Parts: sequence; structure tokens; C-alpha cells
Amino acid sequence: MIHKFELTTDDVYRQRLKDAIDQVIPDDMNTSEQTNLHFVDDWKMLQIKIKETVLSYLSLQPTDYHLYLPPENADIWIMKSWGVKTNPKEMLRYGNHNHAYAHLAFCYYLDVPDKGGNTFFQDGFMESQHPVKSNDIMLWPGHIEHRIPTNLGDKPRYTIAGDLMLFDKTDTNVHWGSPVDKWIKL
Ligand SMILES: [Fe+2]
Repeated sequence: MIHKFELTTDDVYRQRLKDAIDQVIPDDMNTSEQTNLHFVDDWKMLQIKIKETVLSYLSLQPTDYHLYLPPENADIWIMKSWGVKTNPKEMLRYGNHNHAYAHLAFCYYLDVPDKGGNTFFQDGFMESQHPVKSNDIMLWPGHIEHRIPTNLGDKPRYTIAGDLMLFDKTDTNVHWGSPVDKWIKL
């Protein structure tokens, strides 16, 4: 299920995150090649807010949904994160895509100008369009196809996207993976 929430952050903090994205996005691209943006110095506050958002997301899932996990049992990991910047008249170099390797994907809309581009989701034959504004954050199951259209606004559109893995910290649910400290690497 796709859910949108709103974060509270101030302009100064968001500008620092935008500066961090500008530093890692090559001039000829609109996605940072760096896929561990969560290691930048200013990430900590966002990390806390993303965790709160994931817990809210989980609390909204029906108990028969495949991503149902009681929030209090959730071990939440960010496995990957990156910045996306589309300048006016630009669109992402790829269209519909998914992050099927992750349980959940998120997008934090750091700065979205008017007409900067909604997010489109394609779930089977159903396409839905979700209007977004600065400070929104959206979460959805990683397998759902999505895309963003051309930025028709008059300033750059900045987002931070990432992928999440969830585990059951009680390790008592056969339908969820065990916590990472129970794994062995082959
Ligand atoms: Fe994506």
C-alpha cells in the first residue's frame, strides 16, 4: 500500500541536505551515483524521522497484508539511499521502474517546486498519480512500479530516495526474515 506522510523540518536543514545532494550528483546526471547518502553528516535527524514514518506506515497495514508486521516488532534497515535532482524541463533518465529487492521504498520530497512533478505508480493495470509537495514523504512496497515526469517548475526538484528492509526482531514469525545478527554470509 502506498502512503504519504508529512515531515517537519526547517529550511536550513533542508538546504544542508540539498547541498549534500549537489555535492554527489555529477553535472550530467540527475541521480547521485552514491547510493549510501545515509552516511552524510546531516542524515541523523532524517534517519529518526524516517524510522517514525515507517512505524506509522506499519501501524496502518491490515493484518492480512503481506507487509504486515507489528511496529513494535520491526527491525528497520536502510540498505540504500540516494539523491535525485531534476532541473526545470528535465526528467529522470529512466521511466517506470521498481525496487523489488526491498521490502519498502521511500521518497522524501525535499524541495518540490510548483509543477515539479507528481509521482506516478503502476500497480498491475492501475496507474495512480500522487501529488507531492516539499516535506512530504511517501512509502510503498518495493515491487510497485513508479516514475516521475518532467519537472515543469521553475527551479530544481530535490528528493531523497531509499530502500528499506524489515525484519522481525522477536524472530518468532515464519513469514518474516530473522534479524540480521542471526544471518551467516556464504
Ligand atoms: Fe524509484
